Amino acid sequence: MYKITRKRELVENIFLMDIEARRVAKSALPGQFVIIKVDEWGERVPLTICDYDREEGTVTIVFQTLGASTKKLAALSEGDEIRDFVGPLGNPSEVVTDEKEHLLKKKIVFVAGGVGTAPVYPQVKMLKEKGIDVDVIIGTRSEKTLIMEEEFRKVAKNLYVCTDDGSYGFHGLVTDKLKELMEVDKKEYDLCIAIGPMIMMKFVSQLTKSYGLETIVSLNPIMVDGTGMCGACRVTVGDEVKFACVDGPEFNAHLINFDEAMRRQSMYKTAEGKKNIIMEQ
Ligand code: NAD
Ligand code: FES
Repeated sequence: MYKITRKRELVENIFLMDIEARRVAKSALPGQFVIIKVDEWGERVPLTICDYDREEGTVTIVFQTLGASTKKLAALSEGDEIRDFVGPLGNPSEVVTDEKEHLLKKKIVFVAGGVGTAPVYPQVKMLKEKGIDVDVIIGTRSEKTLIMEEEFRKVAKNLYVCTDDGSYGFHGLVTDKLKELMEVDKKEYDLCIAIGPMIMMKFVSQLTKSYGLETIVSLNPIMVDGTGMCGACRVTVGDEVKFACVDGPEFNAHLINFDEAMRRQSMYKTAEGKKNIIMEQ
């Protein structure tokens, strides 16, 4: 059992929790994820790791209440326990791993959308600790749904907040801001890392492809086992079939078949679809 040591509602229906999970906290790296199960009957929910504290032995997750399981999780309080907390799963983000030091010489722009803003944070934080300054664009529906602005102000060189309704910061989508930065402000980037809803990653990818800007996205398809056995997280990257849980979750955005990935994600919205997709493997 894994104890909830901190719980905060960041904005309506988006929660942050620190979970006591010493073994996971010891080896977690930015870009990796965990699969949680609230209780014996709960669904397995994959969540990207948003931070970790090796000394305290805690891992931070941020989630939106969408289905029964996330609602059940949100109903728990500090001191309560959850049944399973499996991880760290997947590969750490290449940009923060030591073996890929060449990536760190690049001028990087992060594009974070909605709840996907949270998993961008540990990457930017770790790069800052390594002395690498990066720009961050956050896109959200309105000021009321904006999360983690304060945290990002401390670690990003330049932070550009965009709201769909213009209630705060730049009025427009993240793609509008990226376009402005590149075409009007003449910013030059070597690498873009985008994390957020699939539709956002698709359009960021289309835009950066037109600029010839290398782009990495972190996919969060539905996952079942998280170990490459069930095939639920299948995605087509170039000519190859990959499993996001073991081959990813980060991939070269320009090679991803986003339309197929979105079709598969929507099939999973119903229990029936879920059954079909598993039978399809
Ligand atoms: P949202 O719908 O509020 O969108 C966030 C931002 O994305 C918008 O403000 C906008 O700037 C941009 N965006 C949206 N549609 C766009 C388009 N067509 N073109 C260009 N930009 C666009 O986001 P949300 O409701 O918080 O998103 C929830 C989704 O994020 C869930 O589906 C969840 O699965 C996903 N998510 C992904 C990750 C990941 O690791 N990739 C992590 C957490 C959540
Ligand atoms: Fe089963 Fe990836 S979740 S193969």
